[in-house]
Amino acid sequence: VEAVLAPTRAEPGTLADLITPAAVVDLDVMHANLDRMQAYASDHGLSLRPHTKTHKSSRIAEEQLSRGAVGVTVATLREAEVMSRVATDILLAYPPVGAHKLARLLALPAGVRITVAADSLEVLRPLADAAKNAEKTVGVLVELDVGMRRVGVASPQTAVTLARFVADAPALEYRGVMFYPGHIRERVDEQGPAVTRLDDELQRTLDALTDAGLPPGIVSGGSTPAANASHRVHGMTEMRPGTYIFNDRTTAVVGACAWEECAYTILATVVSTAVPGQAVVDAGAKALAREELKGTDAPGFGALLDRPEVIVRALSEEHGILDLLGSDWRPEVGERVRVVPNHVCVSVNLQPHVFGARGDRIVEVWEVEARGWG
Ligand SMILES: Cc1ncc(COP(=O)(O)O)c(C=O)c1O
Repeated sequence: VEAVLAPTRAEPGTLADLITPAAVVDLDVMHANLDRMQAYASDHGLSLRPHTKTHKSSRIAEEQLSRGAVGVTVATLREAEVMSRVATDILLAYPPVGAHKLARLLALPAGVRITVAADSLEVLRPLADAAKNAEKTVGVLVELDVGMRRVGVASPQTAVTLARFVADAPALEYRGVMFYPGHIRERVDEQGPAVTRLDDELQRTLDALTDAGLPPGIVSGGSTPAANASHRVHGMTEMRPGTYIFNDRTTAVVGACAWEECAYTILATVVSTAVPGQAVVDAGAKALAREELKGTDAPGFGALLDRPEVIVRALSEEHGILDLLGSDWRPEVGERVRVVPNHVCVSVNLQPHVFGARGDRIVEVWEVEARGWG
C-alpha cells in the first residue's frame, strides 16, 4: 500500500490518500456478493465455477474457492497460470489455437485438472496431439451456441460428432458441454421467454448426445445477468458467472443487482468545471473503458455511486465528462467522486492494482496479476 499512496498524505490509509484515478473495491459489498452467488448455487444443487476474467487476481479467486466454488473459469493462458497458484480445477473457456497456447496449457502444474471448451475439430485435433505428446489428459466440454452467435456448435449433430471424437481420443476426456447465455440482456424480470428458448435449444442437444451414448456429465452455463435463472435450465449442473463479484452499471440496469451492490468504483477527482452544465474528472477511457450499456438505450459510460443520476456522458483518454443537467449537485475542482463503470471487467483490466476499502479506510491492495500475457 505504501508504495502506491500519494507522497504527501493528510491521513494515512484512507481513500483521500490515493492518487486518482484509482480502482477501489468495497470489501463488505464484495463479500456479500460472493456469499449470495454461492448460496444460490448451493441452494439449487449447482456447482459454481466463477469466471476469473472479471478480477484476474489469485487473491480474489481464493475468496471464491474458500466459499465452495468447484474450480475457476479462465479465458487466457495467463489467467490459467495465475489461477493455478490457488486452483486445482481450471476450465479454459476459450479455444486454445496455436502451438504457443497449447504449450502453455500443457505446462500448467501437474496437479491441475484442466478442461477446455472447444467447438471444432480444428481445435480438438491439435489439442489431442499436444496432450498425447505431453503425456497428459485434458478434459473437453463441447461448446454449444444457444443464441449468443459467438462461438459454439450450431447443431446437435455437430455436438455429437465432436463429443465422439473426444471420447475416442486417448489423451482427451469427454466431460460434457458448455454454453454462454451472454445474449440474454433483458431485465431480469423479463428474461422468461429467452430462458425458455435457451432451454429448448439445449434440450435438443442433450437428447442427441444421450441418444448417441454420450450423455454429458457436466452441463456448464451461466452469466451474471441470467445467473438467477440457472435453476430453470433443465440439466444444467454448473454456472460460471464472473461479473457478480463486483457488479457494474450494466448488471444494475438489468436488475441483476441493486445499485448498492456495485462493489467496484473508479475513484476520480474533479479537475474542471469551466464549461457550464458539466464537470470533468480525471477518469477517462483509460480508467473506465469505453463500453456502452449493451442491451439498453441508456446513455453514458458510467455513473456516480453516490449520485446515480449523474452519468459520465463522454470520455476522452484521461477526461470523463459528467453531465450535471439532471442534478442540482455543483462540485468544486478537487472534489472526489466514485464512478461505477458500465463494464467492470474491462475497467479492471486497465488497472495495475485494486485497493480494498472498508468505508474510507484502505485495508489492502492487490495486483491485477493476470493482465496481458505475462
Ligand atoms: C464463456 C463465458 N463464461 C462466463 C462468463 C461470465 O459472464 P458474466 O460476465 O456475465 O458474469 C463470460 C463472460 O464474458 C464468458 O465469456
